[in-house]
Amino acid sequence: MSVDVARARADTPGAETVAHLNNAGAALPPRPVLDAVVEHLRREAAIGGYEAAAERQDRAEHTYDAVARLIGAERDEVAIVENATRAWDMAFYSLRLQAGDRILTTNAEYASNYIPMRQVADRTGAAVVVVPDDEHGQVDVDRLTAMLDERVKLVSLVHVPSQGGLVQPAAAVGAACRAAGVPLLLDACQSVGQMPVDVGEIGCDMLSATGRKFLRGPRGTGFLYVRRGLIESLEPPLLDLHAAEWQPDGSYRIRPDARRFENWECNVATKIGLGVAADYALGVGLEAIRERVRALAGELRERLAALPGVTVHDLGAERSAIVTFAVDGHPTAEVVAALRERGVNTSLSPAAYARLDFGRRGLADLVRASVHYYNDLGDLDRLVDAVEAL
Ligand SMILES: Cc1ncc(COP(=O)(O)O)c(C=O)c1O
Repeated sequence: MSVDVARARADTPGAETVAHLNNAGAALPPRPVLDAVVEHLRREAAIGGYEAAAERQDRAEHTYDAVARLIGAERDEVAIVENATRAWDMAFYSLRLQAGDRILTTNAEYASNYIPMRQVADRTGAAVVVVPDDEHGQVDVDRLTAMLDERVKLVSLVHVPSQGGLVQPAAAVGAACRAAGVPLLLDACQSVGQMPVDVGEIGCDMLSATGRKFLRGPRGTGFLYVRRGLIESLEPPLLDLHAAEWQPDGSYRIRPDARRFENWECNVATKIGLGVAADYALGVGLEAIRERVRALAGELRERLAALPGVTVHDLGAERSAIVTFAVDGHPTAEVVAALRERGVNTSLSPAAYARLDFGRRGLADLVRASVHYYNDLGDLDRLVDAVEAL
């Protein structure tokens, strides 16, 4: 099955007006997502927020089923939270690290994951150790395997980094972690929605993701998966009356499911929208989406690389929907602004978001163009023409 691009575009308000190549920032949502969110907001205004939530409880509950299906999990293994960072933090800060422990990470690590790891390492005397890359610029799984000794309490892997076109060999990393009995926390923020992501096939114990990127959900949504057998051994760093129950004797009992990582108040409209987005992605087909974005991104890399003065910087044996490049003699911010003026949305990837990666490669920043299945060749033409015009 391949993607019906005409239908996808017809379903995407905005696809005709802008060449939206910033899907790694936030994708354009499809109409059913927009409608679900707006409709719920209208209902809240009409009958009250608590009343609307009660009336449509099945819709908000459905989001757990949809997300679970999307990643091959069970609904009680899913927490719906505000974003990928909060999801990742809730898992990470639940771990109890001490002096001498090690966290293994990779050069692709994202700033909002690295900073908490450094904070906890500085507090406890644990160490954050970077696993070297292989010749493709992806994590070297053999070296990772050799480093998995009894000191390692966590492996943190970004599946698809924010700042480049690489897809990490997540299933190979998962297999190595399983064999060693070390938990794997997978940051699937940029991979969920652009390719099949199955927690069982990958072998990750925890997974964080966001709604607004390739999943095409509303902003301010994200989710955390925690493997059932692990949930009750993780004490969330923050608790409230939703995550735990106050007992008559003054004690409290933390819930047994993954909702222990949530908090009580949430945006019900966007939570419903997240479930609609997951259903929508499943309807299009994750395999078909992967094929389409691979082809579009591959074509874009070729066309950009053929332009004089343009360098494409993507690494990896397997490539994602993210295309990064620089234009000689033109600062990145200027390129992004010039494209924006011509109705082409891209973004700037700064070194501060990915210091291990950009530092090693001597890069200060890059233009990031990220395609999705609803983009067409006309969108790529607009980008390439605008870069050429510089
Ligand atoms: C790889 C990666 N991880 C985590 C995040 C954080 O996601 P969120 O902004 O939803 O917290 C991002 C955002 O760009 C990302 O690219």
